Amino acid sequence: MKHLLTGALRREDAISLLDAAEDMHEVQDRQLKKLPALRGRTVVNAFFENSTRTRSSFEIAGKWLSADVINVSGSASSVKKGESLRDTVLTLAAMGIDGIVMRHGDSGAAQLAADWLDVSFPSVRVINAGDGAHEHPTQALLDAFALRRRLFGAQSRGRGLDGVRIAIAGDIAHSRVARSNALLLPALGAEVTFVGPPTLLPPGADTWNTTVTTDFDAVLQQPLDALMMLRVQLERQRGAFVPSVGEYIVGWSLTDERRAKLDDDTVIMHPGPMNRGLEISSRAAEGLQSAVLEQVTSGVSLRMAVLYSLIAGEEPQ
Ligand code: NCD
Repeated sequence: MKHLLTGALRREDAISLLDAAEDMHEVQDRQLKKLPALRGRTVVNAFFENSTRTRSSFEIAGKWLSADVINVSGSASSVKKGESLRDTVLTLAAMGIDGIVMRHGDSGAAQLAADWLDVSFPSVRVINAGDGAHEHPTQALLDAFALRRRLFGAQSRGRGLDGVRIAIAGDIAHSRVARSNALLLPALGAEVTFVGPPTLLPPGADTWNTTVTTDFDAVLQQPLDALMMLRVQLERQRGAFVPSVGEYIVGWSLTDERRAKLDDDTVIMHPGPMNRGLEISSRAAEGLQSAVLEQVTSGVSLRMAVLYSLIAGEEPQ
């Protein structure tokens, strides 16, 4: 794998990244967290869209591997002076960088960057950190990693998520996390159900290798190993997708009442940022079942594994 652009990975590639992340995870328990693996390498975080966790997580991951990490934000870059994305990407590459982690508001932006770089700077690796409403592969990988650890603990290495039942609920249409998970989780053997209001299910979802439905309460009556709530992406919704916030909550929010009906061992997940009180109640977000902060912690390990395997090009020792 040269670049990481999509969650559509081969099972063995995904498992080898998850296993490498297990090795990296051990670093988090140390007082001295730096590994020398990417010393002398340079990674640029180019974020043309807002981000708290993904950008800092990639920055910490790069720094713990001893890479030099540079942040370029869309709002403070020459993009604001009218420079094209292609010129920006090639300019950064011309400085001798090894990798570019890119978040952009347009679907396909990371793929375009990879295509341009393959021609002019073929040693530079591209990692898609979210392109529009299209994909966010490291989020899907970290979700799989956090869930695998919750379910299998110290026996996680080498395993997929075979037979694991996962429901993903909410604003599927605007979610790049949903799309990357729709590709990755079934490849790992999971049984995935997407559920949301009919207007927030994307056209073509019926062709995914998953179940798609609108009845949240019916989904919650089935046994579930994990329930992943997605943010209602108000900033991407052009027009009214649900008649009101009240109606959304009645049909699709993980309220305290719905949480009380879940099995005690159903893992509750959310990629963040959360709209508390809209798609998820505070109690559901913070109870023992919640893996929300484990997902964040897992993100650093997983991104260390991705940076290492793409840039150093070998399995970690
Ligand atoms: C997600 C994103 O930006 O796609 N957040 C994240 O990276 N953890 C989900 C979201 O914005 O709702």
